[in-house]
Amino acid sequence: AQESRGLGDVYKRQTLKCSKNKMTDVAVSILTVEQEEATHVFYNLETARPEYFHIDVMDGKFVENNNLELMKDYATTISHISNIPLDVHLMVENVEEIMDEYMDLLPDRITFHIEAISDSERIFNIIDELKSNGIKIGIAIKPNTKIEEIKPYLNYIHQVLVMTVEPGKGGQKLIPETLEKIKELRSFVDDNGIDIDIEADGGINKETAEDVRNAGTDVLVSGAFIINSENQREAVEIIRGTK
Ligand code: DX5
Ligand code: ZN
Repeated sequence: AQESRGLGDVYKRQTLKCSKNKMTDVAVSILTVEQEEATHVFYNLETARPEYFHIDVMDGKFVENNNLELMKDYATTISHISNIPLDVHLMVENVEEIMDEYMDLLPDRITFHIEAISDSERIFNIIDELKSNGIKIGIAIKPNTKIEEIKPYLNYIHQVLVMTVEPGKGGQKLIPETLEKIKELRSFVDDNGIDIDIEADGGINKETAEDVRNAGTDVLVSGAFIINSENQREAVEIIRGTK
């Protein structure tokens, strides 16, 4: 009798929904790093042990700023000096072209915006190409884009990046309504048994990180807050929720 009670417990535990319970990862955005001090900052960030370096790529078309050359430079330098994986966020219209350049750096994941591509065949082609190169696939949505838009792709990708500010620049204020969208997406993926990372990006700092974690995220991007902190290791821990 005792034995069957034990098994019953195990059974119950296994049939619980697999809602998120692992630690939140931190991706540090290097968007606001000044060129003159870049190498030095990258070494410091390396010792702060974020889970990813977040590379924000902007083409001057999908968003106003253009940092194509600088980010390619930064990402190349980091891939040489660090073994912390790259999390590439493409805010560009010509996803295929820019993605090709970044695939050479063997990033862990590349995320592109659904608003940049209206045709679903094109999206599936991009998914196939990343997959065949062994790179994880992310799709990003801007604050006004509904999660319905990405539902057809959820079973084929590894990450959804929910923008918590309008894409385009670092150091903005988080838009609180975006947290509702994260919660909605978390319940949807859990209810449907979809194993996917939810990443939040923009305005994540000491004040906002806890709410963003509690909304059900797996990866938090943080730029200005970590870069401007005196103690970057502590800043990473604050975002992760371990400090
Ligand atoms: C915004 C970028 C974000 C942003 C994050 O377009 O995608 O990655 O720079 O930086 P902070 O934390 O400064 O908002
Ligand atoms: Zn980003």
